[in-house]
This record gives sequence, structure tokens and C-alpha cells, in this order.
Amino acid sequence: MRRFEGRTAVITGGGSGIGKASALRLAEEGANVVVVDLDREAGEQAAKEVGGRYVAADVTDGDQVAAAFAEANRDYGSVDVAFNNAGISPPDDDSILETGLDAWRRVQEVNLTSVYLCCKHALPYMREQGRGSIVNTASFVATMGAATSQISYTASKGGVLALSRELGVQFAREGIRVNALSPGPVNTPLLKELFAKDPERAQRRLVHVPFGRFAEPEEIAAAVAFLASDDASFITASNFLVDGGISGAYVTPL
Ligand SMILES: NC(=O)c1ccc[n+]([C@@H]2O[C@H](COP(=O)([O-])OP(=O)(O)OC[C@H]3O[C@@H](n4cnc5c(N)ncnc54)[C@H](O)[C@@H]3O)[C@@H](O)[C@H]2O)c1
Repeated sequence: MRRFEGRTAVITGGGSGIGKASALRLAEEGANVVVVDLDREAGEQAAKEVGGRYVAADVTDGDQVAAAFAEANRDYGSVDVAFNNAGISPPDDDSILETGLDAWRRVQEVNLTSVYLCCKHALPYMREQGRGSIVNTASFVATMGAATSQISYTASKGGVLALSRELGVQFAREGIRVNALSPGPVNTPLLKELFAKDPERAQRRLVHVPFGRFAEPEEIAAAVAFLASDDASFITASNFLVDGGISGAYVTPL
């Protein structure tokens, strides 16, 4: 499939995990990919692998975000897809009983304020073109509660969900679609390392997944490509869950 021939996709957090897998997938389908990441080494490497551009930016900084979208538009002539995906889940964001205001604010800035900024600076290009697709990474924890709490993370993803829904409704008649993508737990290097050290911790989570496994980044990237493409032309303002059935499950198979 070459669904993105002649189109430009800006991907934040494109240096790693879901962002990198999506950069690869969209590039495979013909997109000009602009990788935006704080981590220069990872960002440059990903951009090299996809034959795209790397733009160094901190997604919590309005000027840097504006410059990243301007650069994409200047270099490639359009901003067709914005995959606003950069996010963090630091260990000091935990139960509300332990989480301090610093950790709370840092996670809100990187996970939620960044999405506000990216949408704000992508939309003018899309409005001018009369076309565009924005995919914002939320999480299944925006839909379901966890007793293994990361309180600011969860609240930030709830914010991403509400913001995406509102923008999807507001800009629908201008040809711009905005969706929240809500992955279930994904097999990223960090998660693998954590659960290799502590299998019980992994099991506590896996028992809730009907498939009995975590997602691979490529499986999330496939959903990103779908949502970003014209195949999803009647999908907007949605909470697009790619969670292996977690949110639909009561009792899972033995
Ligand atoms: N991994 C999971 O299980 C999972 C599940 C649901 C949702 N998510 C969400 O998916 C998104 C990607 O997660 P991942 O697991 O691929 O993460 P990751 O840590 O592998 O990649 C995140 C990337 O974002 C970049 N980044 C972090 N802060 C930044 C900033 N301020 N400015 C610019 N770039 C920044 C990092 O350098 C990194 O390259 C996040 O929003 C995360 O919350 C992940």
C-alpha cells in the first residue's frame, strides 16, 4: 500500500517505540516523514532509517513546536499528518498518595500540553490545505482505571482524549480529522526490561489481556497508518482503542 505518496507526516517522539515504528510504516507507504524528538541521536537515526528529516524540539515549548511544523511545511510543501505521540511515564508519577506536584506537572506538560501545542501549530497548515489527519496518542488508561496507578499519566491521557474529541468535532467540516489512539500495553524495551526483572508484575497485567500478550509497536503503527490515511475518511473524534480487547474483557481465557 502507498497511501501517503506525496504526503508529509510529522511524528513527535519518532525516535523510539511506537513513534519510530510509525515513522517506518508511514515512510514505507510513501510519506515524507519528519521525526521530532528531544533525543538527537535517536531522532537522527530514525530519520536516517526512513529517509526523512529530523527536527530537534522539546514538545513542551511552543516556539520549538511551531518551528518544527513550519520546517516540515517549508521542506515538503504540506503538513498532511500530525502524529502527536511523544510522552513519558516516569517512576515518580505513581499513586496520588506519593506523587508530588513536580512530577504531576512534568507529566502534564509532556503528555498533554504538548498535544495542545502540536494541534495548535499543525491546524493552520491543514486548514489552508482543506485537508489533514491528526492522531494523538492517548492510552487505554484514559478509558479504564488501574490499581497500579500513575495518576498524572492517566489524567494527562484523559485530557488527550477529550481534546482530540473536541477538535475532531470542531474541524470536521474543514476536511480535518482528529482522533485519539489508545494503545494497550506495548512491548517496548523499557517494559521488557521491567518485566524481565519482575515477572509477577508482568503477570498481574497480562491476566487482563484476552490475547495474553502485549502489543508489538508495529501493531500500533498499523493502526496509526490506518487512522492517518484516507481509509479512515469517516472516522473522527474517536477513541480508537488498540488494546488487545482489554477494555472489553471481564473474564479472560485461561
Ligand atoms: N508503551 C506503552 O505500553 C504505551 C501504552 C499506551 C500509550 N503509550 C503512549 O505512546 C506514546 C509513545 O510511547 P513509547 O512507549 O513509544 O515511548 P518511548 O519512550 O519509546 O518513546 C517516546 C519518545 O518521545 C521522546 N520525548 C520524550 N519527551 C519529549 C519531549 N519533551 N519533546 C520531544 N520528544 C520527547 C523520547 O525522546 C522518545 O524518543 C506515549 O505517549 C505513551 O504514553 C505507550
